[in-house]
Amino acid sequence: MNDMLLDVRDLRVSFGPGKDAVTGLTLRARRGETVALVGESGCGKTLSALALAGLQPREAAVSGSAELGGVQLLGRTERQLRRIRGNLVSMVFQDASTALNPLMTVGAQIEEVMAIHGTHDRRARRKRSVELLAAVGVPDAANRARSHPHQLSGGMRQRVMIAIALAGSPDLVIADEPTTALDVTVQAQVLALLRESTRDAAVLFITHDMGVVAEIADQVVVMYAGTVVESGPIAEVLERPHHPYTAALLASVPDPDVPQAGELPTIPGRVPPLGERDAGCPFRDRCPKSQDRCRERPPLGPVAGGESAVACWYPEHGEGSSRTVEEATR
Ligand SMILES: Nc1ncnc2c1ncn2[C@@H]1O[C@H](COP(=O)(O)OP(=O)(O)OP(=O)(O)O)[C@@H](O)[C@H]1O
Ligand code: SF4
Ligand SMILES: [Mg+2]
Repeated sequence: MNDMLLDVRDLRVSFGPGKDAVTGLTLRARRGETVALVGESGCGKTLSALALAGLQPREAAVSGSAELGGVQLLGRTERQLRRIRGNLVSMVFQDASTALNPLMTVGAQIEEVMAIHGTHDRRARRKRSVELLAAVGVPDAANRARSHPHQLSGGMRQRVMIAIALAGSPDLVIADEPTTALDVTVQAQVLALLRESTRDAAVLFITHDMGVVAEIADQVVVMYAGTVVESGPIAEVLERPHHPYTAALLASVPDPDVPQAGELPTIPGRVPPLGERDAGCPFRDRCPKSQDRCRERPPLGPVAGGESAVACWYPEHGEGSSRTVEEATR
């Protein structure tokens, strides 16, 4: 499909034999679309994001394909990557306080990104940096541009991070838990602003919070133990989760309309760590529907009558296809 801006196929990240942290991430996004990557801690979300930006740990081997507007992002030299980052791909991390330079004003940090990416006129940079700060909801932007990071609240610093990420007009913005450290009201504002200000880009939004996914995503990709277990349009996945893991994640989201009595259901057990993953379904130790066949790994295949894909032998709401996604899209 050529209207896809981001096309990631079979992305793998490995730390050596038996230590495969990401085993085949496939996802696509159009311009203006937000894809949420969800899953519990240790599922491989951050490593996938880092690999797309060429920032994976030195000891990690990355393979597969990730095209952005037809440009291959993987297997690039450091010099090529410097051009790609900011120009094509930028990242927003969870903790703005460590990502920002404490010695520079926030305006100067935004202008620096523009200078690196070819805006040579100083006055144009200054004007645009104030516009960007205003666009991400920083009040009195012209004055705040002259502030240092420590003079701003956590929510304001996170907005500055988003302004920096947008300064090079990237095609792909990767946001790794960008609002987890913020309180709920500020989180909602920052999410809305991120959505507003990235209409020309694709956004890969990483979170473990299904409530946030419902608010921001067009598409959702559910990862478990390094692999995609379900993916599809947000409405379909939220209304008819096919994978028992997705269903369990959704069951643990509090319903704002229902007063909370007692604890939310949590999923008993834990994600198998690297080195303890075998050739079977990675969820089977925790799955209420597990059977003998689940010792064999189910392929990710399209579900009948929907746009989603699921990797489960016994999906909810009827059978998944026995074809893999690759076979179905060939
Ligand atoms: N440098 C490394 N060397 C070896 N294993 C690593 C390394 N970095 C990450 N891992 C392992 O890879 C797996 C995936 O890690 P990753 O950070 O991508 O998880 P995550 O889904 O982002 O989790 P979280 O929600 O906690 O951020 C984990 O099991 C982790 O222990
Ligand atoms: S393949 Fe089996 S163990 Fe895995 S999620 Fe489906 S039913 Fe559960
Ligand atoms: Mg992470």
